[in-house]
Amino acid sequence: MKIAVIGTGYVGLVTGTCLAETGNDVICVDINEAKVKQMQNGEVPIYEPGLDLLFHRNIEQGRLLFTTNLAEAVEKSQIIFMALPTPPGGDGAADLSYILGAAKDISKLITEYKIIINKSTVPVGTADKVKAVFVENTNIEVDVVSNPEFLREGVAVDDFMKPDRVVLGTRSEKAMKIMADLYAPYVRQGNPVLFMDERSSELTKYAANSFLATKITFMNEIANLCELVGADVDAVRRGIGSDDRIGKRFLFPGVGYGGSCFPKDVQALVKSSDAYAYDFQILKSVMEVNEKQKTILVDKVLKYYKNDIKGKHFALWGLAFKPETDDIREAPALYIIDALKKQGATVTVFDPEAMENVKQTIGDQVNYAKNQYEALENADALLIATEWSVFRNPDFDKIESKIKNKVVFDGRNLYDLQKMIDLGYYYNSIGRKLID
Ligand code: UDX
Repeated sequence: MKIAVIGTGYVGLVTGTCLAETGNDVICVDINEAKVKQMQNGEVPIYEPGLDLLFHRNIEQGRLLFTTNLAEAVEKSQIIFMALPTPPGGDGAADLSYILGAAKDISKLITEYKIIINKSTVPVGTADKVKAVFVENTNIEVDVVSNPEFLREGVAVDDFMKPDRVVLGTRSEKAMKIMADLYAPYVRQGNPVLFMDERSSELTKYAANSFLATKITFMNEIANLCELVGADVDAVRRGIGSDDRIGKRFLFPGVGYGGSCFPKDVQALVKSSDAYAYDFQILKSVMEVNEKQKTILVDKVLKYYKNDIKGKHFALWGLAFKPETDDIREAPALYIIDALKKQGATVTVFDPEAMENVKQTIGDQVNYAKNQYEALENADALLIATEWSVFRNPDFDKIESKIKNKVVFDGRNLYDLQKMIDLGYYYNSIGRKLID
């Protein structure tokens, strides 16, 4: 099939590349000329495991092209995906100007039937708004389909190629048939393609992310309670997770959820509920609790140092909001750094992928180490904010040779408690026994 993907951000690029992989001809469009040049020269602009291989293979096969020319892409395609940003506007509600702007541009270019697919996370009713833009500007028939993405950063290629489900919001038989054919190669194992109306599809995306954010936040609160009552959150997690109705996944407590999706989507769902005069109380609490959880490590640090960390120096391992990504949007690590600095401490950081992004965001507010051990030089304590594999089994002799005191505040529960007792550490993790 002939496909255009408008917007080559994270979602657009993964979508375009993975659609080319099953033999479709895909043209990706972006207004950023430098980025388009970079991609035309074979450079992948983001870090995403597995994307490189597919990206190069499909460029070589001539199935994946990049352009700034929207008219050319629209003309050559029957199916047009929009993967455009929906940043929170001033009031926290999603800003639709990119999507509606692109819809207007496309509506002025089309000369024959097209399917316009919205991949971005958008408030309920957006498909209707997009459709209205077309009705206003052209007589040509279009179907507007809502097709939310459920891609996790770090495993996005796998999530696209083998989705748990594909959600498609459309009531047009014609569009249903074409979309079912397009997605058929991705659901060969029998995972469902779920057709529904546009509004249900749009809400499904928010409901899924908000549910997961709630699940994590619930566990964070259970972890906080575990510390007070002397229970072990790992045991409780296993205890509840083996009930199929609850499930084992997304029950890991930590320093709060971050990233480009959960914080934004929870906030947007609250805002759109408000707009319908519905007070979404659970989600309001989720936002509040998560805000506190992002600096829970700093609370622990302050308690340990009796509220005085002026002049103390900390090593921080992990900056990305989760492993296998260089993404630092809403990353708890940034909140931790900010809180430590406000209390007069200094920080040296290390992350396997996200250092450059942090440098560009906060510059010389922290020191940057070349590796995880160098970060420990003269540190009073080590803090861990992201569960990268390289932090899971470190060389503790090396740690000891660098760090001033054997003190670790672990926001991701990476180490075995008995091991930390044997090694003689002060070890403060989330929802588990304090080792001191
Ligand atoms: C998420 C959704 O999973 C995906 O379906 C959607 O399309 C986009 O948003 P992503 O933001 O890439 O994907 O990350 P995810 O792996 O879901 O993690 C989100 C946050 O939750 C991270 O900050 C992670 O550290 C945190 N998390 C996750 C926990 O704290 N505990 C868990 O058990 C799981």
